[in-house]
Amino acid sequence: MRTIGGACREWGFFKVVNHGVDPDLMRSARGVWREFFYQPLEEKRRYANSPATYEGFGSRLGVEKGAILDWGDYFFLHVLPERLKNPHKWPKLPSSCREITEEYSKQLLKLCGFLMKVLSLNLGLGEEELQKALGGEEDIGACLRVNYYPKCPQPELTLGISPHSDPGGLTVLYVDDHVEGLQVRKNDEWISVKPTPDSFIVNIADQIQILSNGIYKSVEHRVLVNSSQDRVSLAFFYNPRGDIPLGPFDELVTPEWPALYQPMTYDEYRLSIRKKGLKGKSLGETLK
Ligand code: OGA
Ligand code: NI
Repeated sequence: MRTIGGACREWGFFKVVNHGVDPDLMRSARGVWREFFYQPLEEKRRYANSPATYEGFGSRLGVEKGAILDWGDYFFLHVLPERLKNPHKWPKLPSSCREITEEYSKQLLKLCGFLMKVLSLNLGLGEEELQKALGGEEDIGACLRVNYYPKCPQPELTLGISPHSDPGGLTVLYVDDHVEGLQVRKNDEWISVKPTPDSFIVNIADQIQILSNGIYKSVEHRVLVNSSQDRVSLAFFYNPRGDIPLGPFDELVTPEWPALYQPMTYDEYRLSIRKKGLKGKSLGETLK
């Protein structure tokens, strides 16, 4: 508990092992999605994403014409709430993709629920407070973004994902066992995260930084590509429901440490990021 608390304050990132998610399931999920991306473009295009829901297959949406694109494709799916789940957007091929992704999501939701308790207690709050603030177990949002970074002949000219912080609550990332790529900002340096097989990389996202009144950090990160191996990652986003105002917990606001943020709903937050074109900026920049 103490180690995680320290990591959330100092790095915004930590790894978890012995997390209760079946390692065979993890490897199958990564394998089946790698197979998905290995299919011909025509097959993948059947699931082309739309600006309205972001769901489906694509490259980065909403970038200006002429902008430098990130060197990666992704597939974005809603897991919760159930009503946002569009069965037509889930790949039919490989045939086991859907079932494996459902089971993977179920186990990750359980892990996230557990992590919420750990983070909440670590902040000195009751075990359930953080989960409640995000809207309760029934109403939270969860999405999966599967990233595929092909080999790149000139990796020094581009990035797999440009620097950004994740907008939601918490992100649980599963990466390839032996391909590095993720880098985390620490002061003015980029620190590479070495993969640990069967582990998850967890990071605090913007809304938990806000709820914790800046005690936990939503830290900027980016992805490098390389010329020798492609890379797959599964980013599971655990997000608040969209329509409740989120601001710092009263317990974490004191005369010495006043509230750093005004309450705002997650829907408003996302809109303001999109409108200002601030995707990829740190939370500090976003809220200015
Ligand atoms: C993301 C992300 C990191 C990675 O999808 O938001 O930061 O290693 N992914 O793919
Ligand atoms: Ni990210």
